[in-house]
Amino acid sequence: MVQRCFGMALAGIDAFPVIIEADITTGLPSFDIVGLPDAAVKESRDRVRSAMRNCGFEYPVGKITINLAPADVKKEGPLYDLPILIAILKRTGQLHANIDDSVFIGEISLSGSVRAVNGVLPMTIDALNAGYKRIFIPQDNAREAAVVQGIEVYPVDNIKTLCDHLSGRSAIIPASPDNTYTDNTAGYTVDFSQVMGQYDAKRAIEIAAAGSHNILLIGPPGSGKSMLAQRVPTILPDMTFEETIETTKIYSIAGLLPEGSPLITKRPFRSPHHSASPMGITGGGRTPKPGEISLANNGVLFLDELPEFSKFTMEALRQPLEDGKVTISRVSGTLTYPCNISLICAMNPCPCGYYGDPTKHCTCTPNAVKKYLNKISGPLLDRIDLHVEVPAAKYDELSSTVPAESSAEIRKRINAARDIQTQRFKGTSINCNARINSEMLHKVCVLDKKADAALKRSFDKLGLSSRAYTKILKVARTIADLEGDEIIRFEHISEAIQFRSLDRKYWNR
Ligand SMILES: Nc1ncnc2c1ncn2[C@@H]1O[C@H](COP(=O)(O)OP(=O)(O)OP(=O)(O)O)[C@@H](O)[C@H]1O
Ligand SMILES: [Mg+2]
Ligand SMILES: [Zn+2]
Repeated sequence: MVQRCFGMALAGIDAFPVIIEADITTGLPSFDIVGLPDAAVKESRDRVRSAMRNCGFEYPVGKITINLAPADVKKEGPLYDLPILIAILKRTGQLHANIDDSVFIGEISLSGSVRAVNGVLPMTIDALNAGYKRIFIPQDNAREAAVVQGIEVYPVDNIKTLCDHLSGRSAIIPASPDNTYTDNTAGYTVDFSQVMGQYDAKRAIEIAAAGSHNILLIGPPGSGKSMLAQRVPTILPDMTFEETIETTKIYSIAGLLPEGSPLITKRPFRSPHHSASPMGITGGGRTPKPGEISLANNGVLFLDELPEFSKFTMEALRQPLEDGKVTISRVSGTLTYPCNISLICAMNPCPCGYYGDPTKHCTCTPNAVKKYLNKISGPLLDRIDLHVEVPAAKYDELSSTVPAESSAEIRKRINAARDIQTQRFKGTSINCNARINSEMLHKVCVLDKKADAALKRSFDKLGLSSRAYTKILKVARTIADLEGDEIIRFEHISEAIQFRSLDRKYWNR
């Protein structure tokens, strides 16, 4: 008789059940795994064989066949070791237990201990959604799995304790959610109070953080662009529970959940170096992994020294920035990861850094300036909502002993504006102004007469693209939210337009 056992497989940030069937027939000893296994799955047989022998189980003599269904999706990684082993133990009568409502996930070592695997959070969520009552997962993944309510989570340290539990000899205590991770904004050594002056840049950053908009900081060396960006994490709004789960799923899949924290409760801030590969930024690989853009999901992706990033990388960012998700093609089809991010970029305006500077002379040829600026393509620039100049701070500002406004103060306003957005988009798949879709645009961005006239004037005068037009509306929506206004007024739209006009100065667009 064929023995069944249940496991899970990942597809993007979701998971689905996999049926593991074990059959043993007489014949020459062999161990075959079928059903589109990758190399790591095929190696399961060696680990399972050794673990069984080393833990005092009897390894069956005969022809062992393991089938992983559905057969048309690729099975990846070592996480099927545990269900394969359980199926064989049951098939050979070495384990008597009802496992119909249970899912098993885990890699096993040759000695029979159970090792952590990636993606346990989404697999636990979707095991619950698929109607399973309990899930057995590696002990080291217990905290992330225990976050899920409604399914019994059993942490397993080795196959012996698991079998003792299943056959009723001793019991594994189910994992319970760990509530010791409330730390949210504490622990930053940097603060906006350390950045003197730069009111325009700070204002633009506040708007970007409030609505999750994209922003470009442009200015001479040493003006504080990197300094400003590095302080953005200190003002990012609180995450909703849904955002926390979505972002944590990505870290679970990437195997990057920080030790001791089962959930990502702070918005991520990722700042990959410009030498990072395009794939490292957008995601992919033989065993596909989320890239920096997805690790920044519901948070910030910071690209410092933007022109240093390869053209290929910048182009690869275009579609994901637009869609809020990134599609990765592979031999066996495609998969998508979310990437709802606020993109923050910083750059100098030319190779020497002083083009357009009121005091220092730019030593670059006009051609060199043009070439440098043109590294940023029009379509990418068009996707950036707020363009802001960061000139060198003035002496009086720098020498002032009065600290600037603190991150905590700024964050209060941002949180209030984000709360308005959370209420506004309740029951939709949208979570912030930057992600307003075309269908919703005119419902939520209502302008008064004066604002409407101002936008029309600018549209005609500046020859705005339709993307620029919608971006201005969304930014104005956020500015109005920061003021607590339901209707977008003239001041709001004017400020939003002003943050779109810098590309004219540098790029002549
Ligand atoms: N507005 C400011 N207030 C206080 N300190 C500042 C300010 N601007 C710059 N500084 C100081 O100057 C240093 C350099 O700033 P930063 O590295 O952010 O410049 P940058 O604009 O990123 O330059 P680059 O274009 O060369 O990368 C900061 O570490 C900080 O000590
Ligand atoms: Mg810098
Ligand atoms: Zn220059």
